Amino acid sequence: MTAELDTIAQKMVADGKGILAADESSSTIKKRFDAIGVASTEDNRRDYRELLFRSTEAMKKYISGVILFDETIRQKAKDGTPLVTLIAEAGAVPGIKVDAGAKPLPFCPGETITEGLDGLAGRLKEYYDLGARFAKWRAVIDIGAGIPSYTAIRTNAHALARYAALCQEAKIVPIVEPEVLMDGDHDIERCYEVTEFVLKETFQELYYQRIRLEGMVLKPNMVVPGKKSAKKASVEEVAEKTVRLLKSCVPSVVPGIAFLSGGQSDEEATAHLDAMVKLGGLPWKLTYSYGRALQAAPQKAWSGKAENMAAAQAAFTHRARMNSLAALGQWSSAEEKKAA
Ligand code: 13P
Repeated sequence: MTAELDTIAQKMVADGKGILAADESSSTIKKRFDAIGVASTEDNRRDYRELLFRSTEAMKKYISGVILFDETIRQKAKDGTPLVTLIAEAGAVPGIKVDAGAKPLPFCPGETITEGLDGLAGRLKEYYDLGARFAKWRAVIDIGAGIPSYTAIRTNAHALARYAALCQEAKIVPIVEPEVLMDGDHDIERCYEVTEFVLKETFQELYYQRIRLEGMVLKPNMVVPGKKSAKKASVEEVAEKTVRLLKSCVPSVVPGIAFLSGGQSDEEATAHLDAMVKLGGLPWKLTYSYGRALQAAPQKAWSGKAENMAAAQAAFTHRARMNSLAALGQWSSAEEKKAA
């Protein structure tokens, strides 16, 4: 079992490949579709995701795995092929979001706890049978006046580790995602300090709950200033601080770290990853597990129209290629212009 987990975790962070986070919940995909004037019907959601998974070049060359939502893992393409089969045939690993979202945490105003542990063992078994070989659980930590509290950090770390243990027992690789949000006006130092606390606590809980670190993938935020911060940070500063933080918190047996984009612009998310990889000398692979930073461009290009499918696939392939170059430390802004 451990060999199987390790092999999948390594495949998820294979050189020059990263993860497509296409696991938007029903409410999140509705928000994305609203922005491009598309009704969030089951067929539209299917058509859009089918378009991504049939982007053959992107899927084969740049995508190691795809995180799906419960509805999607059960859906079939227009011609009747299960969407999971399209992903697997492209050589990527199908994955599944298993958390039930972040809910208000009692006695901690403004903070949340991610739910979804009840019955998870049974659901994981079903997802394995449907083809999932990895899973995702996202904990959300907000920075604000007087928060985060230790209560929120600790309870979320505990739930992440409970989830990870259930996954590994079910032969599913857990993506452990403690996301410190970039909303707010805090500076980069505050993001560093909070993320450090969150990662230290998370790895402590993973240890207490006997997680095999070789058989997991960490999905953290980068160390960045809040979106409303007056103090901006350079690409070099983000890269240097993020790598320093990760080196101090993430054991080197963890095979890979796949970042979330978290609301950064497409190009920022790419440039930051590239700058980190260029620093070199890292004990783990660094790559992407982007939702918005891979999908904003194709969503806009598609806008719900079948005749825009090729343009949307080209936009997706372009972003996937840029991030693949970044994961190899070979990206440059000249590459952006060349292919755009
Ligand atoms: P973003 O890259 O849009 O932050 O999404 C990644 C993800 O899966 C968040 O859980």
